[in-house]
Amino acid sequence: MRPLRSLLAGVFAAGLLAAPALAQEGESLPHQKWSFDSLFGTFDLAAAQRGFQVYSNVCANCHSLQYLHYRDLSGIGLDGDEIKAIAAAVTVPQGLDDQGNPKDGPATPANQFRSPFANEKAARAANNGALPPDLSLIVNAREGGADYIYGILTGFVPAPSGFKMQDGMYYNKMFPGHQIGMPQPLQDGTVEYTDGTSNNLDQEAHDVITFLSWAANPELVERKQIGVRVILFLVFMAGITYAVKRKLWSDVH
Ligand code: HEC
Repeated sequence: MRPLRSLLAGVFAAGLLAAPALAQEGESLPHQKWSFDSLFGTFDLAAAQRGFQVYSNVCANCHSLQYLHYRDLSGIGLDGDEIKAIAAAVTVPQGLDDQGNPKDGPATPANQFRSPFANEKAARAANNGALPPDLSLIVNAREGGADYIYGILTGFVPAPSGFKMQDGMYYNKMFPGHQIGMPQPLQDGTVEYTDGTSNNLDQEAHDVITFLSWAANPELVERKQIGVRVILFLVFMAGITYAVKRKLWSDVH
């Protein structure tokens, strides 16, 4: 049985190693524990819902999330009525009125998330020339992913003495070049949670990153489940193949 056992061990090891190895880019980043890490990880939906609150109350003032529609929020466990209420509280352009003037009205679940600025020029003008990137895919778009964004959100520290800062920039130890055009968005107590969770900076950052990781990879959990099934199937097939080989060659020595 030795070869079979080492084959199985190999298959499992490959599967288990694959997930963390992918997340390990950007060595100097402080590695955080995420609910969605590892082969069997899933999104902590309570954290993702709090993260949506953080995004809505804070980040949405500057960052769009254009690939999300309000109805997508069912993916973090919100029900139809909650989603309708969230959408209805947002005013979006609704075509033209009878006089041909642009008109606004409450959003519906089918609407895209409203962007804070009408266009890139307006976004830059409001942010000292810096462009707040759309956050829909930001977790995938930055090396280091969730850990990197955690590093940014918790990386605002006083500039070392002698460091020359440009006007309108903020020192961030994790940002390449250390000068970022975003003022520190989260501090202890920025968002009041309704579920009694402590609202310190670390928690707020974890929550909003859980939400943004879901936004960028809504099918992640499904993909992992398929992966696990594929591995189990391969193990099963390896077992069958080995048994057949033993049987066919049993009288050859
Ligand atoms: C006052 C406006 C403002 C708010 C509020 C804000 N940001 Fe930003 N953010 C910016 C700007 C401007 C940039 C671009 C900075 C640059 O390129 O120098 C940016 C950049 C970023 C980046 C990209 C960093 C990189 O590597 O390029 C991330 C990630 C980010 N913000 C996340 C967030 C999150 C999460 C929140 C909410 C907790 C938030 N921001 C709130 C203005 C804001």
